[in-house]
Amino acid sequence: MKKKILYGLFTISLNFLFINVTSQDIALPAPDKTGGKPLMQALSERQSVRAFTKENLSQQQLSDLLWAGWGINRLEDKKRTAPSARNVQEIDVYVALPSGLYLYMAESHILKQIHNRDIRAVTGTQDFVAGAPLNIIYVADLGKMGKKEGDVIKESDLLSSYANTGFIAQNVYLYCASANLGCVIRGMVPKDKLAPEMGLRSNQVIILSQTVGVPLKN
Ligand SMILES: Cc1cc2nc3c(=O)[nH]c(=O)nc-3n(C[C@H](O)[C@H](O)[C@H](O)COP(=O)(O)O)c2cc1C
Repeated sequence: MKKKILYGLFTISLNFLFINVTSQDIALPAPDKTGGKPLMQALSERQSVRAFTKENLSQQQLSDLLWAGWGINRLEDKKRTAPSARNVQEIDVYVALPSGLYLYMAESHILKQIHNRDIRAVTGTQDFVAGAPLNIIYVADLGKMGKKEGDVIKESDLLSSYANTGFIAQNVYLYCASANLGCVIRGMVPKDKLAPEMGLRSNQVIILSQTVGVPLKN
C-alpha cells in the first residue's frame, strides 16, 4: 500500500515536471475517494436533470467528478475508472466552464486550458445548456486508433467510442447522484459548430456531451 502511494506521488511529480502547466490551467485537488452514498442508493437516485442553479461547482467537486468519470484508478498501468475497448483510452474529456475550455489530463489530474472563451452555449441545442455551470464534451481521438488527419471516418469507426463514452457518462451520473448534483447526457450537440470552437483536428470526433450542475429544486 505504502509502495503504491509513493509510486503515485512520484508519477504525479514527474507529470508536473514534463507537462507544461500554465497559470491558466486548473490544478485540481486530489480526488476524495472515500465516502459518498452507497452504490445501491446512488443507483436508486440516478436520473437525468435539465434544470440547474447558476452555482459553480467547487474545485473539489470538479476533481471528484472527473476522477470518478475517467480518472486513473491503477497508477502502475495507467488504467481508468471506466473500461475502453482494447484499453485504447481514445476518449478525451473536455470541460466547458464559464472561464473557458479545458482538457482533463488524467495522469497529472489537471485541467489544461485550451482557450478562455465561454463556449457552453455551443455545446448543445437545448436552453438549459448555456447557463449550466459545466458542460463535458466527450471527444474520440481517432489518431489513437490509426486515423490520420484527412482520413475518411465512417460511423462504424465510432462504435466502440460510443460504448466507451457511455461507461464514462454513467460514472458521472452515479457520482452526481452520490454528490447531490444533477446531470444529463446529450446527443443533441451541434457538432459542426462546436468542433471549430474547440479547435479539433479532423481525426477528433465529438461523441456526446453531458451537462452538470446543482439541480434547481421546484
Ligand atoms: C445516447 C443518449 C443521448 C441522449 N441525448 C439527450 C439529449 O440530447 N437531450 C436530453 O435532454 N436528454 C438526452 N438523453 C437523456 C435521455 O432522454 C434520458 O436518459 C431518458 O429520458 C431517461 O431518463 P433518465 O436518464 O432520467 O432515466 C440522452 C440519453 C442517451 C443515452
